[in-house]
Amino acid sequence: MKTCNFDTLPNRRGTGSAKWEFIHEGDQFNQTDRTDKKYGDERLLPLWVADMDFRSPPAVVEALTERARHGIFGYTAPTNSYFTAVTNWMQRRYNWRVEREWILQTPGVVPAINLLIQTFVQPGEKVLIQRPVYYPFMNAIKNNGAEIVSNSLRYENGRYQMDFGDLAEKAADTAVKLAILCSPHNPVSRVWTREELVRFGE
Ligand SMILES: Cc1ncc(COP(=O)(O)O)c(C=O)c1O
Repeated sequence: MKTCNFDTLPNRRGTGSAKWEFIHEGDQFNQTDRTDKKYGDERLLPLWVADMDFRSPPAVVEALTERARHGIFGYTAPTNSYFTAVTNWMQRRYNWRVEREWILQTPGVVPAINLLIQTFVQPGEKVLIQRPVYYPFMNAIKNNGAEIVSNSLRYENGRYQMDFGDLAEKAADTAVKLAILCSPHNPVSRVWTREELVRFGE
């Protein structure tokens, strides 16, 4: 199998990249020329989004290219091979047997979080998160009329840690109906250990 290339950084200008060609100004998400006077010399680094600057694996590029060459882009629906790919991945990587009937499609993680809040949390109830965390988590809670409860992470011994004492206290509040785990954690770059995940679940 061909390997990934992590040594070259392709120039993404001209691809409509949200990360490199747009900027938040107030409530607006504006396309910008990053060489202009205001942001001169491409000095601004867009650290707000976890968006890959390396090329996707050759197998992915080849499969998409082959599909594009077919030339017809009509409506599609999840195929048997799609479900098999997902269930095999979960089995192989996580040793978790996932039934095909459990799998639902959403346009992304953020819409999925919004749908979960709408499903499990009534307006006025609470959702627990671990700040500092990816800002759409906060927006999803607020936009659906719920209240944010932060079991904030602690910076200790050079890395962020979960505060389990605070978690137990806050999760005991019966108004907390949902906890959103960010794993791996953005932006603190922690990959939680098995022990941490088990303790969080308990
Ligand atoms: C923690 C986290 N969740 C979700 C997303 C968005 O995921 P998606 O690829 O579904 O848009 C990001 C993107 O940066 C993220 O950092």
